[in-house]
Amino acid sequence: MPRVALVTGGVGGLGEAICIKLAALGYKIVTTHSLGNPRVGEWLKSMNSMGYAFKTYTCDVDDFDSCRNCVGLVTDEVGPVDVLVNNAGITRDMTFKRMTKADWDAVIHTNLDSVFNMTKQVMDGMTDRKWGRVINVSSVNGQKGAFGQTNYSAAKAGMHGFTKALALEVAKSGVTVNTISPGYIGTRMVTAIPHEILDSKILPQIPVGRLGKPEEIAGLVAYLASDEAAFVTGANISINGGQHMF
Ligand code: CAA
Repeated sequence: MPRVALVTGGVGGLGEAICIKLAALGYKIVTTHSLGNPRVGEWLKSMNSMGYAFKTYTCDVDDFDSCRNCVGLVTDEVGPVDVLVNNAGITRDMTFKRMTKADWDAVIHTNLDSVFNMTKQVMDGMTDRKWGRVINVSSVNGQKGAFGQTNYSAAKAGMHGFTKALALEVAKSGVTVNTISPGYIGTRMVTAIPHEILDSKILPQIPVGRLGKPEEIAGLVAYLASDEAAFVTGANISINGGQHMF
């Protein structure tokens, strides 16, 4: 039986690359998109034309009931989730002086509360079946902080606290919980940064001298999802072109 992998926020960006990689390895892929996402139809068409029959479900990851409904449908229609990749995330970059409570809340709810909301729906099944993988997609900016990202850096750092605590609780049940911390990857989120900031402040800090590729992140996720990675748990794996070493 192929394993079921649920990747939140898979319509484009890192999530799409993760879906493609896991599909190539034989997983059944399910992804989620937020209510009203205008890109879903086109995305499904383009994935179909490439030979991928992905299923995508509407899910507001910041809303617990929406996550419960979504995972309930996935379980009924596709099967129980074996691999959960908490990838969905947003930015609301601005200096702290300008940041409103709404900007703070949006990022904390979507990037951090989502990890609880989704993991809660799948963890009992994973521990009962004695196998599971939770992979939380954090960021180099959760490790080192970033100018204009007090909200995002706080949420991304919080993810790893969650990872470490839960990894301890479920280690004996064959379930691993890990964080990955990508650096600046060539996705829409990064290319939306003003060019002069990207060129003058960010690229010069990346020793490899370029943005990362989504496929490079997907390769790491595939490893963590595999049987070979059974001894890796509670880790935070950096993948940032040398931008931040510690
Ligand atoms: N380091 C140091 N100084 C910086 C800086 C940085 N990374 N970014 C901006 N500044 C400085 C600017 O040079 C400028 O300085 P001066 O006033 O001396 O010229 C000052 O801060 C204000 O910058 P802006 O004119 O850009 O101000 P703004 O209010 O219009 O915008 C900002 C501020 C929203 C933070 C904008 O600078 C920005 O978008 N910065 C990039 C933030 C960033 O890195 N986001 C990451 C998104 S990708 C991601 O999050 C994925 C991931 O996980 C890695």
